Amino acid sequence: MTTTDSTTRSGGRMSFEGTKRAMAEGSRWIPGGASSDYRLGEGALVFERGEGALLFDVDGNRLVDYFCGAGPIILGHNPPELVEIMTRQLHKGVILGGETEDEYEAARLMTELVPCAEMARFANTGSEAVALAVRIARGATGRHVVVKFEGHYHGSFDPMFVGLPHRAGGVTSAGRLGTSGQDPSAVVHTEVLPWNNLQAVEDRLARGDVAAVITEPLWRGYISPAPGYLAGLREITKRHDVVLIFDEIVSGFRVGPGGGQELFGVTPDLATYAKALANGFPIGAVAGKRELMSLIGGGPVIHPGTYNGNALVTAAARGTLTILGRGDAYESIERAGGRLISGFGSLLRERGIRGNVQGVPGSFNVHLGTDNPVSSFADTTAVDGAAVSKLVMALQVRGIRAIAGGHFYTNAAHADELVDETLNAFEDALAEVVG
Ligand SMILES: Cc1ncc(COP(=O)(O)O)c(C=O)c1O
Repeated sequence: MTTTDSTTRSGGRMSFEGTKRAMAEGSRWIPGGASSDYRLGEGALVFERGEGALLFDVDGNRLVDYFCGAGPIILGHNPPELVEIMTRQLHKGVILGGETEDEYEAARLMTELVPCAEMARFANTGSEAVALAVRIARGATGRHVVVKFEGHYHGSFDPMFVGLPHRAGGVTSAGRLGTSGQDPSAVVHTEVLPWNNLQAVEDRLARGDVAAVITEPLWRGYISPAPGYLAGLREITKRHDVVLIFDEIVSGFRVGPGGGQELFGVTPDLATYAKALANGFPIGAVAGKRELMSLIGGGPVIHPGTYNGNALVTAAARGTLTILGRGDAYESIERAGGRLISGFGSLLRERGIRGNVQGVPGSFNVHLGTDNPVSSFADTTAVDGAAVSKLVMALQVRGIRAIAGGHFYTNAAHADELVDETLNAFEDALAEVVG
């Protein structure tokens, strides 16, 4: 394994001059120098490669990776068993214009691991999976309105790109869209309600025109619903004959094999997946009840897609689910994430710093400026976002790569010594940022 020897350091801290040069050059060919706007910002890096729980950037820096590709990397980068499967598949072909045994087996494994899954259908991204789930719900009910919740992100497509943090504060709405170029008519049937408020859902569903309610079971991958909330949603949607969709694109296969629905013991009608399902290969999936899923595949709801379920990504999904199904990856994640959550929490408390660490071992967030856990969109305003950004950058120059906003994902390759290294860097970074 490569060591820190090649790391470029200035005053004991990493420098990212090579990244800056490469991004400036790359910006001539790619707007902003990145292919996702969610990867822009102060901490943006240009990489050379990943290995296990480590990243190596173009400056030769070695970083412990808690960004994990924004969620997909659950087994670590390039785990040998998956590399072998994928190498074999590359020799057999990427996209064959038909189905493969791996595709069927990946879907079957999903039905084994996920409580709501009686069938699954593959797409290429989480955004596509959400669009398909919503289409199935509208096809099943003959209604149009979809209820989503304030602050919940369900992908980049126009209809769901609403109710999200607005640059100027507050949330986006039909009258205050999330991005220039968004079709105002696309959000006409999307209604945004506050989360954890069952009465608001009851009142809206009583009007009789709602096709689906969509929620992340574990909001942002670290915020638990109020006790009984998901069960309440289940009961209300069932009573009004509305499809309940859990967006498990972050929580799926990350918080455990059965995702948020297993964690909270509530089974939706449909669930959407992406990210950890294929350890980084671009995939999306909808899983759910046979009665609903059967509306596609020759039924009235159409779901085409050139790359859907291609041979390469479904081999990755089959391989990832097979490895995850053995359980030891989750033991490593629980151990690493558990140590980090309690270690970060202790360091904050010992130094009397207002802050908290919230989430589950595979996915958690560090907040500064408030001791209270975040449980609503309003609570997010109590967090000192500027201090968190400074902390994330102070960690990055110490070789620890977290997501802006203070989010950490762990994976099966986060060994004890990397966790030790992270705890030391956190202590040092805290002292620099908060004093
Ligand atoms: C909860 C949730 N839903 C949907 C998506 C969209 O997935 P993708 O970026 O693969 O389109 C994301 C992506 O971050 C997400 O976090």
